[in-house]
Amino acid sequence: MKNFETAKDTQKNQMNNAASAAAQTPAGANAKLNAEQAEALRILQSGANCFLTGSAGTGKSFLLRSFIESSRSVLVTASTGIAAVRIGGLTLHSAFCIPRKIITSRDCAFDDAQWARLTRGKRYRLIHACDTLVIDEISMVRADVFKWVAGVLRAERERTGHKIQLVCCGDFHQLPPVIGSQEKTAWNTAYPDNPEGFAFQTQEWKDLNIRMISLTQVVRQRTREHAAALDLLRRGDPDGTGRNWILKNAAPKPVPNGICICATRKEADSKNEKALDKLDTPLESVPTVIDSTSDELKKLTMVVEPKLHLKAGARVMTVINDPGGRFQNGSLGTVREFIYDDDGSIMFVRVNMDDTGMDVDIAQHKWEVKLPECVDSGSEACIRYSTAGEYTQFPLRLAWACTIHKSQGATYNAANISVKRVWETGQMYVALSRCSDISRMHIEGRVSSSGKVLQNKAVIKFYEAEREKSKAAFAPAVSA
Ligand SMILES: Nc1ncnc2c1ncn2[C@@H]1O[C@H](COP(=O)(O)OP(=O)(O)OP(=O)(O)O)[C@@H](O)[C@H]1O
Ligand SMILES: [Mg+2]
Repeated sequence: MKNFETAKDTQKNQMNNAASAAAQTPAGANAKLNAEQAEALRILQSGANCFLTGSAGTGKSFLLRSFIESSRSVLVTASTGIAAVRIGGLTLHSAFCIPRKIITSRDCAFDDAQWARLTRGKRYRLIHACDTLVIDEISMVRADVFKWVAGVLRAERERTGHKIQLVCCGDFHQLPPVIGSQEKTAWNTAYPDNPEGFAFQTQEWKDLNIRMISLTQVVRQRTREHAAALDLLRRGDPDGTGRNWILKNAAPKPVPNGICICATRKEADSKNEKALDKLDTPLESVPTVIDSTSDELKKLTMVVEPKLHLKAGARVMTVINDPGGRFQNGSLGTVREFIYDDDGSIMFVRVNMDDTGMDVDIAQHKWEVKLPECVDSGSEACIRYSTAGEYTQFPLRLAWACTIHKSQGATYNAANISVKRVWETGQMYVALSRCSDISRMHIEGRVSSSGKVLQNKAVIKFYEAEREKSKAAFAPAVSA
């Protein structure tokens, strides 16, 4: 193995020190909100409790970043570690000290003893200081977790008079909450009316009077027809029109160099390992270097693996936007060779990019990890994000294959989608909606025509009811 540490200084000047949140803004710093997004931003800024939703690729995450940047004191959270990393926030569990068990109504009543326990905890200051709580990827927040958060917001309002705006973002047609196989029986006993565990099915969701803002203009897909077919799948596609259009227009054979999107992690890891093994070029292994005194940083999910294994010939994906515009977050390419420093460490990985056909020399990247803290600003406390540490690695991931779960939120330009082991609702829609160009997407396995795996009936009903509600309440500038 080459000595990675000693190359650090040489490479320092070539590194991009941009903060991690900025690095994850897919379209770059100069992209502007479209008219629909700008109108939605105005509603978010009104202070109402909101649910920002819309089809995959309508720019929900893009808009959410603008909202966060424009807010005074915002606590940014997401349902999973990877989603929290993408948005530059904490997991909901960490921000709200949520126990890892099935939470009952009694657990989150926040009586005097429970309230005293919560307010003694290290996170309470953040909750007390925030004006707005943002929850990204809300579809994966389990109902009991949502009840706990809503319980905290209610107790905070009733006991201290402090009202916090709630902004949820996501699409319930995408991945649902995880209920582990060992938890299933206990879950069904505790929540017999909510077997899937969706947050919107709780009384707390109704009590919070959450206004739905739905983005309709798909930015990810290149053609209207493609976006329209996906929209049909999202709504359950009762007569199979969307499915048929996708099957007719998708590439009939595997797309050369397309990323394989698989249902299970085992399948994705095994495809990557096998493909790497097959190459007869020398293996390079580069550990990710973490520089932090904070124990918390060590527990956070990183954008890259703890150790990157590469060979010349390996398929890779870039995981940042290049400030020079040579590649984007999610661009695919093939490793050509490694450029070594005098001491034998790797200075650059030379990657031939699929999009442009150009060879680009990729240096290591430094990700700053920012954590929220409570600061006094004038008379009131508010939340600021300050650097808790950093980690350094080449901004690359093996990309012969990737799971559907890891692909939620991503945009790819070529994909071979394996739907054979898809087992839950929303997975199919997430997998089929990642690619901007239908002719560069191939499907392996059967896309069910029954609608059963495609969408969940409770979700369809929820959106229909919300649309009716917003029609009745006002003629919204942003339609559902
Ligand atoms: N106003 C805009 N200008 C330029 N690019 C945009 C704009 N809005 C969104 N995009 C780009 O479109 C793509 C999809 O956006 P984004 O990932 O925010 O969608 P999303 O609704 O969050 O999708 P998903 O539901 O899959 O997470 C991204 O590459 C993003 O950078
Ligand atoms: Mg998103």
